[in-house]
Amino acid sequence: MQIIHGIAQLREWRKTAGRVAFVPTMGNLHEGHLALVREAKRHADAVVVSIFVNRLQFGQGEDFDKYPRTLQQDADKLEGEGVAVVFAPDEKELYPRVQQQYNVEPPHLQNELCGAYRPGHFRGVATVVTKLFNIVEADVACFGKKDYQQLTIIQGMVDDLNMNIQIIPVDTGRAADGLALSSRNQYLSEAERAEAPRLYRELSKMAKAIAGGNVNYAELENQATANLQEAGWQVDYVEVRHAGNLQVAHAGDKHVVIVAAARLGSTRLIDNIEVFID
Ligand code: PAF
Repeated sequence: MQIIHGIAQLREWRKTAGRVAFVPTMGNLHEGHLALVREAKRHADAVVVSIFVNRLQFGQGEDFDKYPRTLQQDADKLEGEGVAVVFAPDEKELYPRVQQQYNVEPPHLQNELCGAYRPGHFRGVATVVTKLFNIVEADVACFGKKDYQQLTIIQGMVDDLNMNIQIIPVDTGRAADGLALSSRNQYLSEAERAEAPRLYRELSKMAKAIAGGNVNYAELENQATANLQEAGWQVDYVEVRHAGNLQVAHAGDKHVVIVAAARLGSTRLIDNIEVFID
């Protein structure tokens, strides 16, 4: 496995690499990321994983400087998965100008759900992902469904801007008790870790009700929010949305996704469940 830091070297490698699958990450890798890598391997001759902590997607008060940088441990894990290249540019390589002057502006969805709490976040994601797509020139790229809004925005961007890459959504990895795998789980105290699976349990109850024909989405959202609040959570949102475009769901939609974000102490967790309605 090669660790490549420069764009020019990566482009040189790309010329002879055949079919390439790409997994963009910010490092600090866990089992969820490795599941993306394993899926990527099924689609290509070679897998490229990028590790880059992207300043543009961090808002005020979100600690860009404290984000864990664990390149050596990450590289060891990726080597074990048979990854061909780790692309790990430094900030100057990816953002040589003091300020990035051209950005990719997602539509209004960037200001809803998580975007309402993280202004500018999805613009930063769309911009860096575009840059990485242009550099790696992969045939496919894998994104986790755990970040459902990110996945939806990236898929929309690829479609609307005719990007020559196929996006492969990968199911959320979960701990045995249902908690979605996330880098943020490491910040939970022991008591918070024991409480954390409640988020998935509440979404699962909603999913069961919706699959059983309940279309009173507002009532289901309010009930789950109240249950979480009663258990000490600060809820940003629990919402039922159309699974294809994340617009507000309506009775009659056949495929919806229940999306949620809530804080336990200072840790913000997100999760979602898709529901198919007969
Ligand atoms: O999901 C992430 O880790 C990041 O948002 C991504 C896609 C690597 C862009 O920085």
